[in-house]
Amino acid sequence: MRFTSIIDAIGHTPLVELRSYSPRTGVRVFAKLEGHNPTGSLKDRIAKFMIDQAEREGLLTRDKVILEPTSGNTGISLAMIARVKGYRLKVVMPENVSPERVDMLRLFGAEIVFSSGEKGTNGSIEVAQRMVSEDARYFMPYQYGNLANPQAHYDTTAQEIIDDLPEIDMFVAGLGTGGTLMGVGRCLKDHNPQVKVLAAVPHPGELIFGLRNLDEGFIPPIVDLDLLDGRIVVESEDAFRSTRELTEREGIFAGVSSGAVMACAKRLASRMDKGSIVALLADGGWKYLSSQLWTRSYEDMGQETQDMVWW
Ligand SMILES: Cc1ncc(COP(=O)(O)O)c(C=O)c1O
Repeated sequence: MRFTSIIDAIGHTPLVELRSYSPRTGVRVFAKLEGHNPTGSLKDRIAKFMIDQAEREGLLTRDKVILEPTSGNTGISLAMIARVKGYRLKVVMPENVSPERVDMLRLFGAEIVFSSGEKGTNGSIEVAQRMVSEDARYFMPYQYGNLANPQAHYDTTAQEIIDDLPEIDMFVAGLGTGGTLMGVGRCLKDHNPQVKVLAAVPHPGELIFGLRNLDEGFIPPIVDLDLLDGRIVVESEDAFRSTRELTEREGIFAGVSSGAVMACAKRLASRMDKGSIVALLADGGWKYLSSQLWTRSYEDMGQETQDMVWW
């Protein structure tokens, strides 16, 4: 495919069948590889939509500084787009994010404000909101409350899935801002109301980068729980194990939240007699290499445990 700008090359990601994850004939598992986006994650899609919309509405002008709280991926996507379009960008993120994220942001010319690692992304949101309220020069896209976030997935991610697999029965993705699940979920249910939409969420108190457990106090304003058919709670050790397993079994090198999603997809597939599941793998594994994930032994990772909760 030929494009006039890297921004236009966002999306159009592959949908790959994972034959080794099929528990029986008639049950098929597919992975939507969002790591194939220009900066390596699904967030390129929403960054483009949020910036385009803000420009159209006159909220983002040359004199403004873009400011966003992010655990990394959205910041990297915004940084790429800001660089191409010539905007200044500041991101607020927890001090304990992986060094690859920090390096990549700096490479793209973003400024970084660190918030408390203990408070996670909720702490970054608090800091960014305070900064915006004190200085009118900041423009905050605010992915947690910006409807351009789910819209990006409605218009692009979901359409691509429907084009490639119109017979989809189940969709599973991680829940961070909820943008993916809301946008893709709504579009898939418009396509076929029988499609089930499931969220992978971390065990309360455990860290899986990019994901949040809604029981921990903050429900992003764009999230409508009625759209979800269920959530599956995944322990971080299981997410690690599944991330490794995906590389070993299918040659797919994805990030840790993708491991959590694959742990859910496996569980869902084992309960199905027939049908097709799409698991959305949010990013590639590159930013997690320093976590030593690929060098730890399976024995160190403990036993597999999962809670399935249906809303
Ligand atoms: C690695 C990763 N996985 C999953 C998600 C969740 O996506 P969403 O914010 O659309 O719920 C994010 C979002 O930050 C992420 O960075």
